[in-house]
Amino acid sequence: MHTDIERIILDEAEIGYTVSKIAELINRDYAGTQLVVVGILKGSIMFLSDLFRRIEVKDCTLDFMTATSYGNGTESSGTVRVTKDVSADVAGKNVLIVEDILDTGNTLSYIKDYLMNRNALSVKVCTLFDKPGRRRKPITPDYCGQTIQDLFVVGYGLDYNEHYRNLPYVGVLKKEIYG
Ligand code: IMP
Ligand code: MG
Repeated sequence: MHTDIERIILDEAEIGYTVSKIAELINRDYAGTQLVVVGILKGSIMFLSDLFRRIEVKDCTLDFMTATSYGNGTESSGTVRVTKDVSADVAGKNVLIVEDILDTGNTLSYIKDYLMNRNALSVKVCTLFDKPGRRRKPITPDYCGQTIQDLFVVGYGLDYNEHYRNLPYVGVLKKEIYG
């Protein structure tokens, strides 16, 4: 284990299990529909690549968006900016946003509205983690891997100041690193 990590909250085996469970629900809910999966860069990359391989919806495409609400710390600024837009026309299609973690909800509620305004047929949210205790916007994930306490977690795509994304597990970052 990396020395900056206090404890692991999702190991590689648990990640595999969690992702398959979510994929089963998505395959059931979107069977026979037109689905656009929109990964939010960069935090979602590992989760997205594992999840997308398990999606069996026939008419399924992949797109990306980048949005920033975090500065360099662990607190959301509340102001969201889209820095990379989707390239697909989502009008009339079902959009599934894939994100690493739902925290205050600032980022995802903004992105959800943004895609709804593009006349998507539906916009749902899939996150690996949810921290409902920190919510400031009324948004809940439609698919979620695990609900967690107010902890700062890194690994498997999730970062602190762009570091730790490469860890193959998700762990709690030691307070002394960001405190
Ligand atoms: P929100 O707008 O406050 O919901 O923030 C969402 C974004 O903050 C996520 O997409 C993550 O990039 C980042 N974030 C929130 N909590 C954590 C965490 O515990 N670890 C790493 N990134 C986090
Ligand atoms: Mg991030």
